[in-house]
Amino acid sequence: MLLKNEVVEIFNGEMCHQFATASIDGIPNICNVGAKFIREDGKIVVVDNYMNKTLSNLKENPEVSILIRQGRESYQIKGTAIYLTEGKEYEEAYKWMKAIGDKYPARGAIIITVHSVYNSITGPTAGDKVQ
Ligand SMILES: Cc1cc2nc3c(=O)[nH]c(=O)nc-3n(C[C@H](O)[C@H](O)[C@H](O)COP(=O)(O)O)c2cc1C
Repeated sequence: MLLKNEVVEIFNGEMCHQFATASIDGIPNICNVGAKFIREDGKIVVVDNYMNKTLSNLKENPEVSILIRQGRESYQIKGTAIYLTEGKEYEEAYKWMKAIGDKYPARGAIIITVHSVYNSITGPTAGDKVQ
């Protein structure tokens, strides 16, 4: 799925988003993600530099959600993730991260296939599916 322009603008325009995962038992976890980009195929890449509970959850349960917000505009992105530590897709994420700063370990790449996007705003369209 290719994300709508208004979603892409907020995703790229804000430096940090909130990334939610859950354990297989349904225990939720949320963390910040600043190392993120959208590929041409619409998949979202998040770089694992420091993840702990997030990584444990991803290994058990691939379903994830990302909350993005700019002012009073906000979207909830839902998708399915794979975690890679080698191969072409990982190398792309590794190079992208290292170009930003050598201090970042880029231990793994989380590749998210988006399956739905919802409004996360206030008002009558709150919670509506937009993609
Ligand atoms: C502004 C900001 C951006 C962050 N971006 C990332 C990131 O892109 N990748 C990452 O691995 N950790 C990032 N972190 C660290 C995570 O928020 C968190 O500390 C880490 O995932 C460990 O928490 P966990 O046990 O919930 O996974 C960031 C932290 C801050 C404050």
